[in-house]
Parts: sequence; structure tokens; C-alpha cells
Amino acid sequence: MSIIRETSNSYIEDQHLKLINDANFEFYNKIEIEKFKEFSAIIGLDEGIDIKVIYPEIKNLNTIAEIGSGYGRAIEFIKNNQFSGQVYAVERVRKLLDYMEEKYTDDDNIEIIDQDLKQLNLPNKADCILWLWSGILELSLPEQRIVLKRLKDNLGEDGFLLIETPYKNVRVIGSKGEDNYIKFETEWGTIEAYLPTFEELKESIQLSGFSSIESTFYQTKTGLTRIFYKIC
Ligand SMILES: C[S@@+](CC[C@H](N)C(=O)[O-])C[C@H]1O[C@@H](n2cnc3c(N)ncnc32)[C@H](O)[C@@H]1O
Repeated sequence: MSIIRETSNSYIEDQHLKLINDANFEFYNKIEIEKFKEFSAIIGLDEGIDIKVIYPEIKNLNTIAEIGSGYGRAIEFIKNNQFSGQVYAVERVRKLLDYMEEKYTDDDNIEIIDQDLKQLNLPNKADCILWLWSGILELSLPEQRIVLKRLKDNLGEDGFLLIETPYKNVRVIGSKGEDNYIKFETEWGTIEAYLPTFEELKESIQLSGFSSIESTFYQTKTGLTRIFYKIC
């Protein structure tokens, strides 16, 4: 069992503090945007089925933030649904930020934010934060706990979080280590990932000040079963 203690602004795990998120930066820095898009088609997210599932939850909100927006796949589907509130798109890879800035240059309701989500500090508190397409997996368990606390701090009073992940199994191209971390070796670099168990996620959200978690299963266009967690 691992023991988590809270310090002034971060969680320190008494066991080994494994860090993976910064090592994954190079993958997104190197991969061509067209190739990145092909991966979304392989998973079956390229036509925005995930946004279709959650849109009723977000359509009337004033402010939403998507963290780790990539090339803006989800933002595009949110905008296609005529969402009229404020959208913050948070990303840390310059090439992806440039791509979105150019695409949304005339849209006053979209703010592209160059930030590392581990230090997330939105201009205003959001009604909902979206963490889609396995984004949470790209952090180790202790890193996930640090970020969940920041997400809580960036949400308004009734704000909620929507996290999207694979259900149970990641379609593993790489190798799974004894500690359950998964390594994908690709021509653009290595990606390390960690799929938290439901119990771990529940513990993490409690430690971050959230009080409830609800699951919704759905199927992607390519037949994968995936899950949304609504966390309040
Ligand atoms: C799998 S992609 C998901 C893209 C997008 N959310 C979607 O659903 O299409 C994960 C994205 O998160 C970004 N990311 C990973 N770690 C991040 C961090 N610490 N700060 C900001 N962005 C990060 C990556 O650069 C990448 O664009």
C-alpha cells in the first residue's frame, strides 16, 4: 500500500515518485499532425463520437477547458455543435499550438493556452474540464494525483471533470512492465503510460477534493469499448 501525504501544493508519494509525462513530450513534438490524425481514426475517435456522448452535459455551460488539446480534434466537434461558450484549449507542444492558433484565429470564444497541465492556471475557473483520448494515462500515478488537484483548483464551485480512457485494456503495441506501466516504442520516440485502476482513480479524486465519480461506457467507431468518468 502506498501512503500519500499532502504538502502545501503537491502530493508526495512515500514510495518511488515515478515521473513519465515530460519524457512523452518528444513524441508529440516529432509526430506529423497527419499521422496524429491517423491514430485517432485507428481508435475510432476521428468523427467525434466521444463528443457526441458528452455534448448534452456541456452544451449549456459558460466555460469549458480541454487539457492536452492536441491538434484540436475535440474542439472542432464541440464547435461543430454550435457551442457558444468560452473554450480554453491547453497544450504544451508549440507545433500543435500554432496549428490551433491558425485554425481558430477568427474565433473570439476560443483561447489557445500554452501551458503545462501540471502547472495549470486557467484565466478563469471552468464549469467543466475535459481530459480526453487517454490523456490521463500519459502521467504516472503520482503525477495524475498532482494534476487532479490542480484541475480541482481550476474548476468553479459546481464544476466537474470529464475523463475519457480505454476500458480495462489498452490496445498494447508496446510492452507492459511488472509495475503496470506500458511502454510504446515508436518511430517518433517512446511513450510511457499508466492506466489507473478504478480504485486508484477513486482514491486520487478523493485526495484531490472531489467527492463523486460516475462511469459511462461507449463504443468507438472501430468497436472499442471506452469509458467516460464524470467527476464532481
Ligand atoms: C492523446 S493526445 C489527445 C489530444 C486531444 N485531447 C484529443 O482528444 O484529440 C494527448 C495530448 O496531450 C498533450 N499533453 C500531454 N501532456 C501534457 C502536459 N503536461 N501539458 C499539456 N499538454 C499535454 C499532448 O501534447 C497531446 O497533444
